[in-house]
Amino acid sequence: MTSLTYATSRFSSRNMLLLLLFILPSGLPMYLSADRNERPVIGVLAQEVYSPKPNQTAYIAASYVKFLEAAGARVVPVMILYPGGGVSIVSSGYERAAKIFYELAIEANKKGDYFPVWGTCLGFEQLTYLTSGKLSLSHTNTSGVALPLNFSEDVKGSRMFKGFPAELMAALASEPLTENSHQWSLATLTYNTNEELKNFYRVLSINTDGNIEFVSTFEAYDYPIYGTQWHPEKNAFEWTRPYIPHSPSAVKTTFYMAEFFVSEARKSFHRFESVEEENKALIYNYNPVYTGATSAFEQIYLF
Ligand SMILES: *[C@@H]1O[C@H](CO)[C@@H](O)[C@H](O)[C@H]1NC(C)=O
Ligand SMILES: *[C@@H]1O[C@H](CO)[C@@H](O)[C@H](O)[C@H]1NC(C)=O
Ligand SMILES: *[C@@H]1O[C@H](CO)[C@@H](O)[C@H](O)[C@H]1NC(C)=O
Repeated sequence: MTSLTYATSRFSSRNMLLLLLFILPSGLPMYLSADRNERPVIGVLAQEVYSPKPNQTAYIAASYVKFLEAAGARVVPVMILYPGGGVSIVSSGYERAAKIFYELAIEANKKGDYFPVWGTCLGFEQLTYLTSGKLSLSHTNTSGVALPLNFSEDVKGSRMFKGFPAELMAALASEPLTENSHQWSLATLTYNTNEELKNFYRVLSINTDGNIEFVSTFEAYDYPIYGTQWHPEKNAFEWTRPYIPHSPSAVKTTFYMAEFFVSEARKSFHRFESVEEENKALIYNYNPVYTGATSAFEQIYLF
């Protein structure tokens, strides 16, 4: 396999979906307490539109923005540098932008400068590529299914699930609350035999498509880097597909996951140089459009 192309429609609807979220420079000194940044700003990486039009070359599904806003963060869209059709995790603008931020995050964290990174779905797959330097994904029958999480022993000491209520953990383990829209997965067999991935990520949950067992949630041992192959943002905010769960526990999953990542973002003291620069960069400068009738997303931002 030399390239993985995920896009299936103009907004590459169901089988993929992305998102690496990065903490960008944020907040302002007057709002910083000694140990917490109460004005976190999170960068969300835009993704190439499959068949671009003038001024519509990249997009972000609004559900990722709502996800973060619901937990007290503001969002800045991160534009990709080289728009072009299709989204590959080895050769797209998305990949190049993800690599830049991943490397900045590793560097910053090494210096004790907190810089959290999150990958959802394609973002999760992208993280496996950035960490190991190779494509290590297996084809799975997982495009459009909600699953319970099979938690690993390590989940008990994890950072990601520490704040989740016991009741919600029990629901996650027994009810199909995590929505999967991917055709590629990190097989546990691959993870177990890949030294880079094994030394870098702690596996928090696994799933299976009936055939192949794959890693569905991980966090890095030594860095604030997190990934879910499933979509925590969809339960509360996306309605176009019948397999997206909307039960009270499903919606709480959206919120507790956002709460976790935004609380990580509050540990980051990166910020814009000025209020003006921050204001210019915020996603509030753009309007989402309704796309629910023709795509998997209710609303998207186009850039
Ligand atoms: C693209 O955006 C620019 C800047 O906002 C605007 O001046 C231009 O008219 C737009 N082009 C099209 C084809 O919409
Ligand atoms: C894929 O999984 C679905 C259930 O999610 C199942 O109905 C279908 O038969 C599976 N397809 C194959 C080729 O295994
Ligand atoms: C959870 O994963 C373990 C380890 O692979 C496996 O032995 C067990 O059968 C799985 N449980 C379920 C409910 O799938």
